[in-house]
Amino acid sequence: MDNQTIGVFDSGVGGLTVARELRRMLPAAPLVYFGDTARTPYGTKSPETLIRYALEDARFLIGKGAGLIVIACHSAASVATEALRQELRAPVFEVITPSIDQAVAKTKKKVIGLMGTRATVSSRVYEREIGARNDGIKVYSQACPLLVPLVEEGWFDARETRMIIKRYLRPLKNNGIDTLVLGCTHYPLLKPVIAEKIGKRVEIIDPSAEAARAVRDYLEADRALYATRDDRIAESERKGRAEARFFMSDLTPATERIARWFLGENVRLERDGPD
Ligand code: DGL
Repeated sequence: MDNQTIGVFDSGVGGLTVARELRRMLPAAPLVYFGDTARTPYGTKSPETLIRYALEDARFLIGKGAGLIVIACHSAASVATEALRQELRAPVFEVITPSIDQAVAKTKKKVIGLMGTRATVSSRVYEREIGARNDGIKVYSQACPLLVPLVEEGWFDARETRMIIKRYLRPLKNNGIDTLVLGCTHYPLLKPVIAEKIGKRVEIIDPSAEAARAVRDYLEADRALYATRDDRIAESERKGRAEARFFMSDLTPATERIARWFLGENVRLERDGPD
């Protein structure tokens, strides 16, 4: 790959949690982000629609200079990864595989829990992939459709949010999970409450960090890229971080404010997207 601009897409602002980790771990790599705010949410869509959207989103990013694609949206990654790998020449990374690897490595009791959107949970990708690695591991999945809107309202620690999280976690807790995957872009923002409700003995896997690590390992493993990366690091140390552009297919006054929560810093959003 001669172009190491990282292209990240999501159904909206949530994937900025992945962009944030990538910026932290690879400050010298240029990044283009696309959030499909005009067509969000993805978590309620069918596999066919998600595959179509994901291909359009990835091609849009390639058109903006991306040489590597990261599917930050769990709902899209759960059904569209193979289609993207077949259709695109750019390497495709996603949030699911690295978090599955991590969960399988961490679980001692061999009972893993998953929280996700309906699209992610119905894809059963976790059951399939974990079963392929170790068929002795049990997976319990919980669709948590109420959590995305609560996060977008900024109700991270509201009483209602706490109650809903407790209720969603109850079956996972009753099934004795010892590892919990936060299988949606929005859930890392609820991690303190989730951690409190699920209890200290359960290990929580944050896929945004795992995905960023996978991209970093890939870029660093390639000696040619590594050299380029060193040059870029030297340059970014002189000039600050590499350029990042953030495109959204729709913008409302709330989008920028919500985007800041996910990225952890102020962000200038540009309105653009697939035709
Ligand atoms: N980005 C989505 C995901 O990670 C959550 C929001 C949505 O449903 O679009 O599945």
